[in-house]
Amino acid sequence: MCGIVAYIGQKNCVPLLLEGLRRLEYRGYDSAGIALVQNGSIGVYKKAGKVAELVSAIGASNGELKASLGMGHTRWATHGEPNDTNAHPHWDQKREIAVIHNGIIENYQVIKTKLAQEGHIFETATDTEALAHLIGAMYERTGNLCSAVRMALAEVEGTYGIVVLSKHDPDRLVAARKGSPIILGVGDGENFVASDAAAIVDHTRQVVYLEDGEVAELTREGFRTMTIDDVKTDKVIQEVTFELSQIERGGYDHFMLKEIHEQPETIKNGMRGRLLIEEGNIKLGGLQHVMGRLLSARRIVITACGTSWHAGLVGEYMFEQIAKIPTEVEYASEFRYRSPLVNIDDVVLVISQSGETADSLAAMREAKRKGATVLGIVNVVGSTIARESDGGVYVHAGPEIGVASTKAFTSQLTVLALISLMLARQRGMTKEDGIVLARELATIPDKARQILENTEHIEAIAREFKDVKNFLYLGRGANFPVALEGALKLKEISYIHAEGYPAAEMKHGPIALIDENMPVVFVVPKDAIYEKVLSNLQEVRARRGRIIAVVNEDDHEVEKLAEFVIRVPRTYGFFGPILNIIPLQLLAYHMAVARGTDVDQPRNLAKSVTVE
Ligand code: G6P
Repeated sequence: MCGIVAYIGQKNCVPLLLEGLRRLEYRGYDSAGIALVQNGSIGVYKKAGKVAELVSAIGASNGELKASLGMGHTRWATHGEPNDTNAHPHWDQKREIAVIHNGIIENYQVIKTKLAQEGHIFETATDTEALAHLIGAMYERTGNLCSAVRMALAEVEGTYGIVVLSKHDPDRLVAARKGSPIILGVGDGENFVASDAAAIVDHTRQVVYLEDGEVAELTREGFRTMTIDDVKTDKVIQEVTFELSQIERGGYDHFMLKEIHEQPETIKNGMRGRLLIEEGNIKLGGLQHVMGRLLSARRIVITACGTSWHAGLVGEYMFEQIAKIPTEVEYASEFRYRSPLVNIDDVVLVISQSGETADSLAAMREAKRKGATVLGIVNVVGSTIARESDGGVYVHAGPEIGVASTKAFTSQLTVLALISLMLARQRGMTKEDGIVLARELATIPDKARQILENTEHIEAIAREFKDVKNFLYLGRGANFPVALEGALKLKEISYIHAEGYPAAEMKHGPIALIDENMPVVFVVPKDAIYEKVLSNLQEVRARRGRIIAVVNEDDHEVEKLAEFVIRVPRTYGFFGPILNIIPLQLLAYHMAVARGTDVDQPRNLAKSVTVE
């Protein structure tokens, strides 16, 4: 979703801002812009479309623009269509102050109406322009940029991560945060603001995370932070741990493909130091202090969005089957608004790659407010969900840039498996049984590697089906969420309509769709319900549906019914989803490539959805 990068220092910031915007492209956006303070005035350059179009529009590649104070933004449209006018930065009434903003100003109409009565004229359909004008109006009163921002924010309802600069103040940047992440990058004689460390990590690794309700004033020499009411706050400078190479494509055509191929390593990273094979046990430092509450929990409620929600569905099978703990899974967007019956006996587990998804964060806060213990399974270190939860586990998948989530999903499943085994041992599973499960978990990275060693047959299947209009994905048990996730991957990046269904439910509706034009992807490993899924395969075959089946390497039954089989190594039923999803990620990827869609920046999608 929208991205922010800003700079105050000694250098010419134009290349730095444009490079920062490129690094934020993965978040999803539809227009981009920069504002530069030069010779006592502000230049704003903005354009619908990609950063590359902004670059050619301003001719910055020729080095024509120079400034040592500036900011850049990628916009994902909420209010007003994605065109040049609605792109950020936005001006105040006098065109002396410029603002970039992530989030939504909910009372922008009220603000606009009031200011219009005072003579303000608005040029865009955005909520952000109302905020820019409000800051301008406050500046008229105070003549101080930071105070003007604080006073304006005191009147605002909604969410924001903002950066503000003024032509009167060539030595100052002001940033603020509520609900949309903002980090400060601390350099030597220079300072940065970004919505995401990826934008600034090649310049500084020293960062400060702003909290909701905090405002920061940055100069070349330093920064200070305060609340909206002007109470000074103390911040700790933290170190960003990921490497630049992790946010680059490293020889792959797309980030998504790179991230699919990283999975043997990322799954292993999720287990590193946590899997105690000889003890048949698991050590998760972030859960030790809440173990008592976890073990006495009446139930676990998992809440999440998108792919993370699918991971939660697999988690439900794992928690109930391995650890024997009642578990429910809810969409965070539904959970937050339906007055959930949650109390102090519940553990609410939020799963989020980014740790910033607005609905997941709100669901977590709601559960916390009601007294539940809230835990996070998060990828991005230092993200809001990670910081606000009572405890949790990082999945350690490293930065995920591809909008279609892949490695984060398998890492989430790995961590859910670890938690299940840990709880099972605490609840009476024998050491011997624990050793058997721990040994099997340790084999998963190598098994993932085997799947990725030979993917040509998956490419061939993708070419065969690239022009179809619909796909059905079926699975049972813990592989039903795999079917959902496989269908989601296909929708997201190839724009083919795809539905995931529990295989046995097919006959209650979707079977009406099946004919010789309908490809049906079955996930059918040799587990406890294998025979049942075989019957569902027969039902599709009888109606001439075209079957693609993900099967185990030693399966010789399904090939008699399916047109194509994709083989994966065998593992225990509840660990199977970690492997079974990999061919479906590859199938979606190769379908998208065959159809020529923009795999890493699919239309309309955002990597991190920070608005509700
Ligand atoms: C967006 C992304 C999805 C992701 C979902 C939840 O829709 O495009 O890939 O699954 O948000 O994100 P989270 O960061 O909370 O896992």
